Amino acid sequence: DGEKPLKGRNAIVTSGPTHEPIDPVRYIANRSSGRQGHAIAAALAKLGAEVTLVSGPVAIADPVGVHTVHVERAEEMRDAVLAALPADMAVMVAAVADWRVASAADQKLKKHPGESIPTLALTENPDILKTVGHHTMRPRLVIGFAAETQDVESNARAKLERKGADLIVANDVSPATGIMGGSRNSVRLIRHDGVERWPDLAKEEVAERLAALIAEYFHA
Ligand code: C5P
Repeated sequence: DGEKPLKGRNAIVTSGPTHEPIDPVRYIANRSSGRQGHAIAAALAKLGAEVTLVSGPVAIADPVGVHTVHVERAEEMRDAVLAALPADMAVMVAAVADWRVASAADQKLKKHPGESIPTLALTENPDILKTVGHHTMRPRLVIGFAAETQDVESNARAKLERKGADLIVANDVSPATGIMGGSRNSVRLIRHDGVERWPDLAKEEVAERLAALIAEYFHA
């Protein structure tokens, strides 16, 4: 089917940040808007894929034609992703928090005059991409993102190996680029056999090009 080359294929996409609770009213988060991940979910659906989008808390709408699962924490995101297996492809775009608070308080932390200031002890979050990349139900195609502020390419290449991905989409998220939360993206595709640099594009265009490349992969 020329119009719907991904018809009959299942895709899992993660998007947005995660919120890691400190107490019932406070959390640790990051600047991810979900725009790139949501655009990829929409672009895959447009090519006929059945898409499960697992999204952290974002201010943008659920893409149409996509099954969106809303989560807050990294552990919830991991559980929702694993529940969506098996799948033909996984595109992990979410900016998952690397750490969570080791023991989040069930009551709001109170400020008492004269008392010491609390210290947050952190613990490591599950690496969802790595889990999926090494899973017995590993999708045929596993794609990760790498948001770096330095040594973009070497960091992305290391990630490709460590996480068991077929492709890493690397971007420079230094504050000056305005990429994190912005509407445009300038990426490099890191594969086992080489690097491809794309021009500065709208996030929707990055998504459409990536979806086209994925469709080619499944038809090669
Ligand atoms: O290690 P780093 O966070 O830079 O890796 C980024 C890639 O790994 C992204 O594709 C992101 O969605 C994924 N990731 C994940 N779970 C984590 C951390 C990152 O799926 N805990």
